[in-house]
Amino acid sequence: MSGPVAPPSKAVLAKLTPVLTKRWPSPDAWRRRAYEQLDGYRALRKAITAHPDDLIQLIKDSGLRGRGGAGFPTGMKWGFIPQNDGKPHYLVVNADEGEPGTCKDLPLMTHDPHSLVEGAIIASYAIRAHRAYIYVRGEAVNAARRLRNAVSEAYEAGYLGKNILDSGFDLDLVVHSGSGAYICGEETALLDSLEGFRGQPRLRPPFPATHGLYACPTVVNNVGTIASVPYIVLGGADWWRKMGTEKSSGPMIYSLSGRVVNPGQYECSMGITLRELIELAGGMLPGHQLRFWTPGGSSTPLLTADHTDVPLDFESVAAAGSMLGTTATQIFSDQDCPVYATYRWLDFYHHESCGKCTPCREGSYWMVKTFRRILSGHGTHEDLDTLLDTCDNILGRSFCALGDGATSPVTSSLAYFKQDYLDYIEGRVAPKLSGKQLVGAH
Ligand SMILES: Cc1cc2nc3c(=O)[nH]c(=O)nc-3n(C[C@H](O)[C@H](O)[C@H](O)COP(=O)(O)O)c2cc1C
Ligand code: SF4
Repeated sequence: MSGPVAPPSKAVLAKLTPVLTKRWPSPDAWRRRAYEQLDGYRALRKAITAHPDDLIQLIKDSGLRGRGGAGFPTGMKWGFIPQNDGKPHYLVVNADEGEPGTCKDLPLMTHDPHSLVEGAIIASYAIRAHRAYIYVRGEAVNAARRLRNAVSEAYEAGYLGKNILDSGFDLDLVVHSGSGAYICGEETALLDSLEGFRGQPRLRPPFPATHGLYACPTVVNNVGTIASVPYIVLGGADWWRKMGTEKSSGPMIYSLSGRVVNPGQYECSMGITLRELIELAGGMLPGHQLRFWTPGGSSTPLLTADHTDVPLDFESVAAAGSMLGTTATQIFSDQDCPVYATYRWLDFYHHESCGKCTPCREGSYWMVKTFRRILSGHGTHEDLDTLLDTCDNILGRSFCALGDGATSPVTSSLAYFKQDYLDYIEGRVAPKLSGKQLVGAH
């Protein structure tokens, strides 16, 4: 695939299904009054008269799957919360969004924060939580400001606080800013951070559904997951299921970055292909040929130009040897080096490794060193075996999925682009790093 193409065809344009993004172009949608004029808080008025169990069933029927990366069925997660256990329940919205390439939650919180607040109120009502938190990435200052404003507007209107809309249901919602650590997006590290501890993953079981925040039943859901809830309440499960595929229902916000003419957010029914997304984004940049891409952030194995017709839903991407992840498609061309790109991702994982377990802490450190050696022209053939061996010792042996994610770009780039590694090792291309950078290894 190369070069800019003609304007997107009607058939491809028809694949755009703006649902969660539909209010974004309205300049004032982040204010309550504007949000209400655009259907806002209608779903809450409907939901609050329903039985909480019926809401959980509705979300189960819709087939909604988590938008945070793993695609876990949301209704099932809500159903795990024990009832009549006498303990407080909590909803925690994961707004940490730190996966490289991922940038769908930030614009949602900035342009349409009330949709997240409304979703959080409905979800809390369904799981019988009277306190909810939105854990926002530390750097996302503007989004946190907009959210705090939305929360206070919701209190003023009686959507939060005591006896919401005369239903007898009470809820307090707190916006909490983290400090910008990628590991705090991992749900149990997030809970530790929220409790005031250093953000490191917890041993599971027990799972957050029974022992989450303050050891009480807790649902942790992504921003996109919770913001989907009001639309499902208003539109119904069947309407939601009409978008997407049988097992991957609904619209999805695909984030395109890299070598395309119009990078950005494209909300489409699940199952659209990269070829169609690139067409929506105006084609590849002039002079660039697609070479490799991530389907869902850097923790998902790379795919290549041979995979442009893979439907981007959970099942099809897994069948192609990767994962849908956060639908952050980072697009690289023949002018980008897969070895260098992998090194940059690995450097990120090494930097963000929390250090709790040995395979990830030591493995990411050694792999960064090995990449620096290869990229500075000092690598050996044995280094490639060592990299694969190190990945083998991290994958499935780490305490949390950060370690697994760190191996994805390494093993997939070696599978598809081994020749590029050999070119550095055998001196066919100029080193990308200098000796000084090599000495500067952590
Ligand atoms: C290192 C790491 C970082 C993560 N970062 C995020 C994040 O920023 N946002 C998010 O929603 N999920 C993130 N997750 C996934 C969460 O652990 C969890 O699966 C998710 O919040 C569940 O929400 P969902 O069911 O709505 O997808 C991360 C996982 C790992 C291992
Ligand atoms: S895999 Fe990495 S980030 Fe996760 S607990 Fe182990 S050291 Fe920490």
